Amino acid sequence: MPETARLQLGDKAIDLPIVVGTENERALDIGALRAQTGYITLDEGYRNTGSCQSAITFIDGEEGILRYRGIPIEQMAEHSSFIETAYLLIWGELPTENQFNTFSDLLTKHQNLHEDIRHHFDLFPSNSPPMAVLSAVLNALSCFHPEMLEIEDDNSFQEAAARIMAKVRTIAAYSYRHANGFPTIYPHPDKKYTANFLHMMFSQPYKEYEPDPELVKALDLILLLHADHEQNCSASTVRMVGSSGANLFASVAAGVCALWGPLHGGANVAVVDMLEEIRAAGMSVKEFMQQVKNKKNGIRLMGFGHPVYKNFDPRSRIIKKTCENVLARLHLKDPLLELAEELEATALQDEYFVQRKLYPNVDFYSGVILRAIGIPHSMFTVMFAIGRMPGWIAQWQEGRFVSKSRIHRPRQIYTGPTQRVYTPIDKRG
Ligand code: ACO
Repeated sequence: MPETARLQLGDKAIDLPIVVGTENERALDIGALRAQTGYITLDEGYRNTGSCQSAITFIDGEEGILRYRGIPIEQMAEHSSFIETAYLLIWGELPTENQFNTFSDLLTKHQNLHEDIRHHFDLFPSNSPPMAVLSAVLNALSCFHPEMLEIEDDNSFQEAAARIMAKVRTIAAYSYRHANGFPTIYPHPDKKYTANFLHMMFSQPYKEYEPDPELVKALDLILLLHADHEQNCSASTVRMVGSSGANLFASVAAGVCALWGPLHGGANVAVVDMLEEIRAAGMSVKEFMQQVKNKKNGIRLMGFGHPVYKNFDPRSRIIKKTCENVLARLHLKDPLLELAEELEATALQDEYFVQRKLYPNVDFYSGVILRAIGIPHSMFTVMFAIGRMPGWIAQWQEGRFVSKSRIHRPRQIYTGPTQRVYTPIDKRG
């Protein structure tokens, strides 16, 4: 007998089916509630609403657990690469050697942009926000690959997924080069995914950029750690856009827009801005914390707090360790890292943060490590978008082809004026 919960509405009792996930997460299925009772549920911001059933990523925010397709993030970080992780997220299993090579070959095959796309970059002012350029050019890809608009089978999905994964880093690097007036550097057929991105960003026609392998590894790890995070704001956007039947390019372009905001992917920029401002003002950690805790100032400790994690974000621990290791191995000293560590230590002991269960999130240290790698500030959120691409692709595919979801259409409780009469303009006053 399936488990149900009984809802009493006046003298009417309704049995709501209980849906149980593989990790024993429980939900009341209210899908038929309105039809049965005329009621809807109200949950602003969907904080207590499951928008779908998903087999991609598991998070336990209370325990600080994150798993990709069942595998703990710590194991992925230690043993895997960004591309292998992308394969796991999109296709559900770690690839065999053959599958991995086929996917890598596809990424190489599709890494160039159509030459006409390059001219798009000329039309953007050089100070354009890189997230705007990324979203626009990703969307424009659908004009150049119309055959990818209809994804009918596994093969066409694989082609489209590889195209987007391969091209997103080319677009990102081109936008940076163009904004800085540097000549375009084409992707190199023999370089791996992350090293190739750094090559396109930093090589010059007369001199190849040769990054320290430790930096390439660190950047690959950052991409891996950002690869998916279940139904966050941008993934939900991608699924929602996809639910209308919109193509994969349009859906991930919308995901980029959702990620852009400072409360989501833009937080890694905001953290470094905050650290730089504290230093420039010569403010002590104590003084800054006072400002944060005085709500009137509207200042937040950026990189702290999370809608789901009420414990350490497991990614922040990994990034912090990597950050310290990389800087130490390269004999780099970044005063922002020291400041970040001091802020973290202070916050973790402070009643304000303890009471509200505010812990460092993935963005708290990622900006510092991106700086060490040489990624410019303006590109931090773009790095997040490159990392998140496999997650968006997996979420889109699951919504469209696995759960075959209906068009997403939340309802509302209307609070505006009740019916009234139109007043002609000469009678308004
Ligand atoms: N600094 C100071 N106070 C905070 C912070 C913070 N970073 N985050 C939350 N609070 C306080 C709020 O003022 C509120 O206090 P109150 O109960 O006295 O009113 C309480 O903690 C709860 O805050 P909410 O805004 O309700 O928490 P929510 O879960 O909605 O927000 C969010 C989560 C947006 C991440 C928030 O913690 C925040 O703004 N953090 C800083 C920005 C940031 O780092 N964003 C990255 C998120 S992770 C990601 O997208 C990759």
